[in-house]
Amino acid sequence: MSLARTLEPEVMDTVEEAVDYDSMNHTTVNRAFVQDLLRYVAETGSVRVVLGDTEDVSPARQGTETSLDAEASLGGTVIDVGAGTALIPLELVRMVPYVGPIIAVDLSVEMLRLAVRHIRNEKLRSRILALLTDAKYLPFVDGSCDVVMSNSIVHHIPRPVDVFCELRRIIKPGGILFLRDLMRPVSENVVEQLVGQYAGGDNVHQQQLFRQSLHAALSVDEVRDLLDATGFETARVCATSDRHWTVTARMPGL
Ligand SMILES: C[S@@+](CC[C@H](N)C(=O)[O-])C[C@H]1O[C@@H](n2cnc3c(N)ncnc32)[C@H](O)[C@@H]1O
Repeated sequence: MSLARTLEPEVMDTVEEAVDYDSMNHTTVNRAFVQDLLRYVAETGSVRVVLGDTEDVSPARQGTETSLDAEASLGGTVIDVGAGTALIPLELVRMVPYVGPIIAVDLSVEMLRLAVRHIRNEKLRSRILALLTDAKYLPFVDGSCDVVMSNSIVHHIPRPVDVFCELRRIIKPGGILFLRDLMRPVSENVVEQLVGQYAGGDNVHQQQLFRQSLHAALSVDEVRDLLDATGFETARVCATSDRHWTVTARMPGL
């Protein structure tokens, strides 16, 4: 029998949670998120991206990773929903010379406190804005956002359909959705194996955060049902690693 979903607290609003989350090593996962986002946006024609194996790129930048030409840009408003300490917006700004503004939305004061500190330290206050708000009631008008991205928030939401409806509402016709989260493992054994493999070097509280998140995550089939229920006709969901699913969509209308 498959593992049932067990909810975890929605908002990560203690100092300990925020500090422990922020100090875990998210670099590989975040870099992959930004590269996959850019690859998807490039495929849909919204940003000029030069892939690492083309002739246009200097030898130093060649390789399997996505690299960007010097003029690369990602126009319009970019929203990061459940941005936490803004590590993904920071990674995006480092990779794309012209992007934004990026609005980093979260409902946790403590996560945003650290986000603002990072943004200030990197002198990016004019490019990344931190906004304390609920992903279930986003303060953006219908069809106003060009790119909506989100990593690892859906498993926090008791009724994810509420967030999916909001994302659907705020994206512009022709706009992009790029949504990634953990995928609930099929058994307790697989949970423990993933915790050992990806959080083995972390402290006990950090391991517990990861374990709870895996238990609270959705399966690919559950996400597919949500996309159907919320009218994301053009969206696709698939497993993109041993512990993640990813939704991509370009909204119809352009
Ligand atoms: C696991 S963290 C991911 C943070 C960030 N996206 C990243 O990848 O590093 C999940 C974040 O979602 C936030 N969150 C949970 N429920 C939320 C809601 N209803 N509205 C906005 N943010 C929420 C939490 O406070 C937390 O910062």
